[in-house]
Amino acid sequence: MNGFSYEIMKANACHTKFAEQICKEIESSAKQRGSGISKRTPELIIQKILEDKAVIAITDMGEWAGFCYIESWENDQFVSNSGLIIAPQFRKNGLARKIKAEIFNLSSLKFPNAKVFGLTTSSAVMKINSNMGYEPVIYSEITQDDKFWEGCKSCINWEILQSKNRKNCLCTALLFDPLSEVNENNNSKLISLMA
Ligand SMILES: CC(C)(COP(=O)(O)OP(=O)(O)OC[C@H]1O[C@@H](n2cnc3c(N)ncnc32)[C@H](O)[C@@H]1OP(=O)(O)O)[C@@H](O)C(=O)NCCC(=O)NCCS
Repeated sequence: MNGFSYEIMKANACHTKFAEQICKEIESSAKQRGSGISKRTPELIIQKILEDKAVIAITDMGEWAGFCYIESWENDQFVSNSGLIIAPQFRKNGLARKIKAEIFNLSSLKFPNAKVFGLTTSSAVMKINSNMGYEPVIYSEITQDDKFWEGCKSCINWEILQSKNRKNCLCTALLFDPLSEVNENNNSKLISLMA
C-alpha cells in the first residue's frame, strides 16, 4: 500500500488492544518465511507497552501498522531490540527503518550507556541495522543473561542453539556500542535527527 499516512510513537495503554494482533502477525510471518522466531504472548507485548519500552506505528485510520520493543539486561549494560514487525500491507514503505530509528532513540534515552543489540535472520533488518552503525558480532559479545536466551526456547532452532552451547545459531547478532569512538558521532547524529 503506497501513500498511507501514519504516526510513529512510544506505545501507551491505548495500544494494548493491538497486542494479540501483533503476536499473531509475528508468528504467521515467521511461518511464512520458514524462519525461527521467539514466540511472544499478548501479555508480554502489553507489559512492554506499559513499561514504556515499545514503539508503535498507527495509521490515520487507527490501524496498527508496525511495532518493536526493547528490554534491558545485566543491570542495563545491554538493551535488546525485539519483535520488529510491520503489518504485511504496509511493508516496503520505509516503515521498519523509521521504527528502528525511533526504537534506537528510545534505547538511548532510557539506557544511554547500554550496548544495543538484536538477533535476526532477516536481510532487511541486517541492512537497516548496518546503516545505523550496528556490527555483526559473535554471541559472546551480547548479553549472557539466561533470561534473554530463554526467549529462544520457543524458536524452531532452539535445539541448534543448545547443541552449539549458545555460541552460535542461525541468527546473526548485530551490536551497536555507543561508547565506541565512531558510534559516539553516529549516536549524536541519530538523536538530533529524531529530536
Ligand atoms: C522485515 C520487515 C520488518 C521489513 O519492514 P519494511 O517496513 O518492509 O522495511 P523497510 O521498507 O523499512 O525497508 C528497509 C530496507 O530493507 C529492504 N527490504 C524490505 N523488505 C525486504 C525483504 N523482504 N527482503 C530483502 N530486503 C528487504 C528494503 O528494500 C529497504 O532497503 P533500501 O532502503 O536499501 O531499499 C517486514 O518485512 C516484516 O515485518 N517482516 C516479518 C517479520 C520480520 O521478519 N521481522 C524481523 C525479525 S528480526
